[in-house]
Amino acid sequence: MADDPFAVFDSWFADAQASEPNDPNAMALATVDAAGQPSVRMVLLKGHGPDGFVFYTNREGRKAADLAVVPKAALLFHWKSLRRQVRIEGPVTLASDAESDAYFASRGRDSQLGAWASDQSRPLADRATFEARFEQVRARFDGGDVPRPPHWGGYRVTPQRLEFWQDRAHRLHERRVFTRGEGGWSEGMLFP
Ligand SMILES: Cc1cc2nc3c(=O)[nH]c(=O)nc-3n(C[C@H](O)[C@H](O)[C@H](O)COP(=O)(O)O)c2cc1C
Repeated sequence: MADDPFAVFDSWFADAQASEPNDPNAMALATVDAAGQPSVRMVLLKGHGPDGFVFYTNREGRKAADLAVVPKAALLFHWKSLRRQVRIEGPVTLASDAESDAYFASRGRDSQLGAWASDQSRPLADRATFEARFEQVRARFDGGDVPRPPHWGGYRVTPQRLEFWQDRAHRLHERRVFTRGEGGWSEGMLFP
């Protein structure tokens, strides 16, 4: 019987939260466009469990355009001081409106206003243009709650494959690979 890969992740994530100086939840997100061109950028993990790994973003940016055409992604955590990496691959779906609303409501007000002011992946004339837009947004929602912008929300990567890589002495790195099959998870071991 394979161990539960999500229990392994929880344990490693707890170690990272205890030891990494900042952003233990930072992960690289790789997507691919219609022409097969990959691109990668960092995002923050904001929820996870057996149904997937969730991040939030502007749904009009480059990653969103990629995911609209090829709804698959790879995630990578590298916890440098622990000498560990976790690779995750699988299909991607939109987080529900209710889930995105709940997370948006938990953010600080400046982050909420920033989500309205930002136009990700589209060039802005300059920083002053963004700041002017931020001020307009601040005035627009003055005194009231800031609702989630329609162009902003979550994505969920549902793992089909997880690989846990641990540095070991003498370059005998350990790689535990979990793959999801018809009957559940199976585990294999890879060596470099
Ligand atoms: C540590 C770190 C965390 C980040 N977290 C997020 C995030 O959670 N969501 C997001 O949209 N962008 C995040 N960014 C910015 C993205 O890396 C990226 O610049 C932006 O989302 C635009 O990507 P795109 O043009 O491929 O859509 C983060 C950047 C760094 C360095």
